[in-house]
Amino acid sequence: MNKDDRIFIAGHRGLVGSAIRRALVANNYTNTIVRSRGELDLRDSAAVEAFFQEQAVDYVFLAAARVGGILANVRYGGDFIRDNLLIQTNVIDAAYRNGVKKLLFLGSSCIYPKHTKQPIREDSLLTGPLEPTNLPYAIAKIAGKTMCDAYRQQYGFNSFTVMPCNVYGVNDNFDPDNSHVAAGLMRRLYEGKVAAAPEVTAWGTGVASREFIDADDLADACIFLMQNYDDGGMINGGTGEEVTIRELTELLAEVVGYGGTIVWDHTKPDGTPRKVMDVSKIQAMGWRPKTPLREGLEKMFAHWLTPQGQTVLRTFTDG
Ligand SMILES: NC(=O)c1ccc[n+]([C@@H]2O[C@H](COP(=O)([O-])OP(=O)(O)OC[C@H]3O[C@@H](n4cnc5c(N)ncnc54)[C@H](OP(=O)(O)O)[C@@H]3O)[C@@H](O)[C@H]2O)c1
Repeated sequence: MNKDDRIFIAGHRGLVGSAIRRALVANNYTNTIVRSRGELDLRDSAAVEAFFQEQAVDYVFLAAARVGGILANVRYGGDFIRDNLLIQTNVIDAAYRNGVKKLLFLGSSCIYPKHTKQPIREDSLLTGPLEPTNLPYAIAKIAGKTMCDAYRQQYGFNSFTVMPCNVYGVNDNFDPDNSHVAAGLMRRLYEGKVAAAPEVTAWGTGVASREFIDADDLADACIFLMQNYDDGGMINGGTGEEVTIRELTELLAEVVGYGGTIVWDHTKPDGTPRKVMDVSKIQAMGWRPKTPLREGLEKMFAHWLTPQGQTVLRTFTDG
């Protein structure tokens, strides 16, 4: 990837896409191409085809997707499978047919079987049943990964998939019904602080462990892989470091300055007891994350308090 190559970041206003854009600009890539959903609805195949015909794109970071928390996935499963299949099918196909040199597709660790050996290796894909709550989303992601592999095999199209762990960071979604765990807990604890609430309730027992990556580190991994990875298939993008939900919550309380009591609601589910990815493949290539969890959460919190951060509220009520 040369500094003046034409690089399309699909989903540049989202958590991951905005981090990829920041990293490319900071590294002096001078020809980044972006379109908001209003300017180019990636579900529209004719519009996507016309865009690729006009723009002579060299590289694609495909970070546009319908993304949401557990509630949105359960409520809007139809939207999740339709929109994600349309977005990725349109972009991958038009990119191939219009001479794109390489495409990176963002998957998600939810595509791995619900019960699988930890840390999760790339080759555990399709070895067992998936978590039912986000099945439509996961199936769409598996289809996207398979489409990249099949286009590589049949047409020689250089495309591959990155599977991130839980992502958090600047531009995260703080919608109360649609956020992921770190942003959701940050919001509740901060609201507890502002209201001087003696207690804030968190779900479950807090013993489940998860892996979190700062969006800026994931962006760095994506650019590193775009430059150095040509084997196709998929590769995990994470830190390999586990933290329990209780540790995360206590850390978040310190970051937002909440001094009250955190009450654990044991009637609520913990989810999968442990979810951590095997990152030996990316680490063997020489890539490592740079941001300690506390530092990343502090950066995320500081951004959320800015007027720009307060506008990031993605809800999914539109069909
Ligand atoms: N967040 C995580 O924890 C996580 C974990 C694993 C994997 N991932 C993957 O990383 C990717 C990016 O996730 P994210 O967290 O950055 O999501 P996000 O913050 O919700 O951003 C999604 C982006 O997709 C764009 N988009 C959605 N529908 C579109 C459409 N029809 N046409 C054009 N653009 C559309 C949105 O554009 P507008 O802003 O213009 O609406 C937004 O910029 C996804 O593939 C996701 O599966 C995320």
